Amino acid sequence: MFGLWERYVVPPLISCACSSKPIMKQRAKIVPEAEGVVLEVGCGSGTNFELYDQSKVTHLHAIEPAEGMVKRARAAWAEGRHETPCDIHTCGAEAVPLDDNSVDTAVVTFVLCTIPDWESSLQELRRVLKPGGKVLFSEHGLAPDDGVAKWQHRVEPVWKRLAGGCHLTRDTKSMLESGGFAVDQHETMYLPNTPKIAGFASWGSARVA
Ligand SMILES: C[S@@+](CC[C@H](N)C(=O)[O-])C[C@H]1O[C@@H](n2cnc3c(N)ncnc32)[C@H](O)[C@@H]1O
Repeated sequence: MFGLWERYVVPPLISCACSSKPIMKQRAKIVPEAEGVVLEVGCGSGTNFELYDQSKVTHLHAIEPAEGMVKRARAAWAEGRHETPCDIHTCGAEAVPLDDNSVDTAVVTFVLCTIPDWESSLQELRRVLKPGGKVLFSEHGLAPDDGVAKWQHRVEPVWKRLAGGCHLTRDTKSMLESGGFAVDQHETMYLPNTPKIAGFASWGSARVA
């Protein structure tokens, strides 16, 4: 029963939740900055594709482990009729099928909340990024207010099961720093029209420390 939920309900549910107006605004704050060879981690259904500045991206590699999402992402890319070369790989971020020092920009949106082994994934990002390469991130996570954080911890066990493994209490900046990145730009806010437990957003850029 739970397998059916994961297979048939989670992909459209996540695609829908991840395309809300406040979340699209968060994406637009970072995705157009991507340049050169770009790796998008856990691209889901390809919601970011329309936001790339195609004149700055020389090649887009997107990785995504869920077959259903990969199908949607491929359809989204084809629909956009982009000319930039693009490969959508069916795999997780723990083993990226790219060479060392081959990526200029890694794009990470609403995915560090979900990746089970985020430590290995950040290690992989460090491996594939060129010296001076950037991580552009836009995530949601642990709120700074005790009252909200308390509810995030309470709700997370159920939320995780219903929302494809998404955590509410991960702290993006700390994760990046403990994963060996220096965070150069970091901004935060509560998203409008979004429950606070899921709406504490952070975005910015980081580079290999
Ligand atoms: C909330 S969705 C966000 C999708 C997309 N990044 C976006 O911004 O719309 C989380 C995504 O992480 C993907 N994911 C789960 N485990 C992963 C892993 N180990 N490596 C990469 N992506 C993973 C899921 O399949 C899902 O597509």
